[in-house]
Amino acid sequence: MNTATQKTTIINLDDVQPFGMGGRRLCFVHPENPSRCIKVLRTDENRVIRWRKSKIPAKWRRAYDNNAHEKKELERLYRKLGDEMSRHFPRSYGMITTSIGPGLELDLMRDDDGLISKDIRSLLLAGYPLAQLRDVFNQFGEFLLRHRILTRNLLDHNLVVSMRDGKPYRIYMIDGMGDPAWLPLARWIPALGTEKVKRRMKTAWTRFQIRSAEKSV
Ligand SMILES: Nc1ncnc2c1ncn2[C@@H]1O[C@H](COP(=O)(O)OP(=O)(O)OP(=O)(O)O)[C@@H](O)[C@H]1O
Ligand SMILES: [Mg+2]
Repeated sequence: MNTATQKTTIINLDDVQPFGMGGRRLCFVHPENPSRCIKVLRTDENRVIRWRKSKIPAKWRRAYDNNAHEKKELERLYRKLGDEMSRHFPRSYGMITTSIGPGLELDLMRDDDGLISKDIRSLLLAGYPLAQLRDVFNQFGEFLLRHRILTRNLLDHNLVVSMRDGKPYRIYMIDGMGDPAWLPLARWIPALGTEKVKRRMKTAWTRFQIRSAEKSV
């Protein structure tokens, strides 16, 4: 199949159940490739709409497009790190056409038994002991620091834990990449970038502890 043909193929998601849903997107297993997923923007009434940070008055602003932003950030990471990025991030394979709208094609994280990896929020709410995530979370943090990768807040539902032999093996960030600051000082000034990554890690762990406690009440 040549590239031109591939681009015009429409992936049918009409009867496919999403395996995941966030405030803004539905996530589907790619019907033709079980190691990839497709994220499609939600259009229902209950979706969360975030507005782009900008000085432009609200009435002229476009709603923030998660897929466009994530594609850009993941491509930036690939240019910077190459295949090394796959240790903790999905790769983006670009936008495709689906029967329910434009979709972003990405790596899908799975455990060694083939099941789709769970996010930290689901694990904690199911009673998974937070202490068992400390090592993999530290490794993830070291990776962010080593490459000074800036992120939004590290939210528990945007980090998935891939399991091997029933034990946490690696954390992957599947949403929330990039620095939301309007003026990207942390990207330009290394010391600020490092500080920001450390702050994100600390805040995240505190939030995980709160989430973990929620489970026990
Ligand atoms: N690549 C992936 N591998 C495994 N699970 C995933 C992957 N991508 C998404 N998920 C699951 O689907 C859920 C929703 O995905 P995602 O965070 O991309 O949606 P969103 O609408 O952008 O989220 P938010 O509410 O944070 O804006 C995640 O919380 C996670 O449980
Ligand atoms: Mg999310």
